[in-house]
Amino acid sequence: MQTKNIVIFVSGRGSNAEKIIQYFKEDERVEIPLLVSNKKEAKALDMARSYGIDTHVVSRKELREGGEIKTLLKTYHTDLIVLAGFLWLIPAWLVEAFPNKILNIHPALLPDFGGKGMYGMNVHRAVKESGMKESGITIHYVNENYDEGNIIFQTHCDVNIEDRAEDIAGNVLKLEHAYYPKIIEKVLFDKKEKSIQ
Ligand code: GRF
Repeated sequence: MQTKNIVIFVSGRGSNAEKIIQYFKEDERVEIPLLVSNKKEAKALDMARSYGIDTHVVSRKELREGGEIKTLLKTYHTDLIVLAGFLWLIPAWLVEAFPNKILNIHPALLPDFGGKGMYGMNVHRAVKESGMKESGITIHYVNENYDEGNIIFQTHCDVNIEDRAEDIAGNVLKLEHAYYPKIIEKVLFDKKEKSIQ
């Protein structure tokens, strides 16, 4: 059996990345050999190293033009790139090199509350201000525009009138942690949706 290699891209704390790493830890079908960050101070880098995962800090120029990152993705025989809180736009060369093989998670129900600048607490504050009665998560393929690739999975949580943006963020993060690893598994192995719900 050929192992599937996932490379995770992060910009910050990496709680989703850690859930994914833990989920596949005992799974012999999956390896996570490399975690890439655009920030050298990202907490996720230490977390990854603590699991014995190699790390790489990518610069803006390198991501835009290819270079070392391109070589690394080849060297690690990357089957799937998983963005888990990665804030830079994925350039065309990378989308083209990995068609339908780059996933992202967005902490709201796209197409609402997506696009440039819609990340982190900005999203949850916008949801709160809109008066929407629900929020949720969207897992989608990545194309060259922020938050616009085909949607793979969405699920929602209630937003109550008394909820602060921080409460919404907490509820959404629980959904992210519960579903992102399972959807990645489904994408890798085409498991039936039923087993995810
Ligand atoms: C998550 O809310 C994810 O949806 C968004 O960025 C956040 C990353 O959180 N894209 P963490 O670094 O996984 O804790």
